[in-house]
Amino acid sequence: QSNFNQKIDYVFKVVLIGDSAVGKSQLLSRFARNEFSLDSKATIGVEFQTKTLNIDQKAIKAQIWDTAGQERYRAVTSAYYRGAVGAMLVYDMTKRQSFDHIARWLEELRGHADKNIVIMLIGNKSDLGSLRVVPTEDAKEFAQMENLFFMETSALEATNVEAAFNTILTEIY
Ligand code: GTP
Ligand code: MG
Repeated sequence: QSNFNQKIDYVFKVVLIGDSAVGKSQLLSRFARNEFSLDSKATIGVEFQTKTLNIDQKAIKAQIWDTAGQERYRAVTSAYYRGAVGAMLVYDMTKRQSFDHIARWLEELRGHADKNIVIMLIGNKSDLGSLRVVPTEDAKEFAQMENLFFMETSALEATNVEAAFNTILTEIY
């Protein structure tokens, strides 16, 4: 079967949210194109990329939406969340503030998204081990309390990126 005319069984919309500079866009480009850039520009508005993968012999098209962490560059909130069946809540494990803001992002998400949405907390930049300020245990505890999946990733080193997206897509499925 040709990849170009592949029959798609399901399309899953997943949104990325979290503070500016935590690595949302680089996680997406690592997942969708296996690319990474150190001098990535802040996102303005909304972008999305797709990747088709197989789960249980079904062709799943993941449509991953990425928006600006910066308030002034953000898109219309309700449109961004509409139809989303998954969300990745990203913080930077070397920036405490980005983790402290997760509760607010979660509140916005729960206020706008479908109540059955699958949510995954992502601690990114695990390659910067010596600069870590958010302990794994703190994030794990928060995730457990809020019923979220949790993983630590590095978009730079491509650690757990595939695993994180595969986990959320499998849970959605
Ligand atoms: P906004 O679009 O402003 O919301 O930011 P963002 O969350 O999309 O951040 P982006 O992906 O643009 O990454 C911000 C900076 O962090 C860039 O310089 C990236 O190269 C860097 N970065 C992203 N992921 C990683 C990572 O896993 N490790 C390291 N060391 N740097 C990373
Ligand atoms: Mg971005």
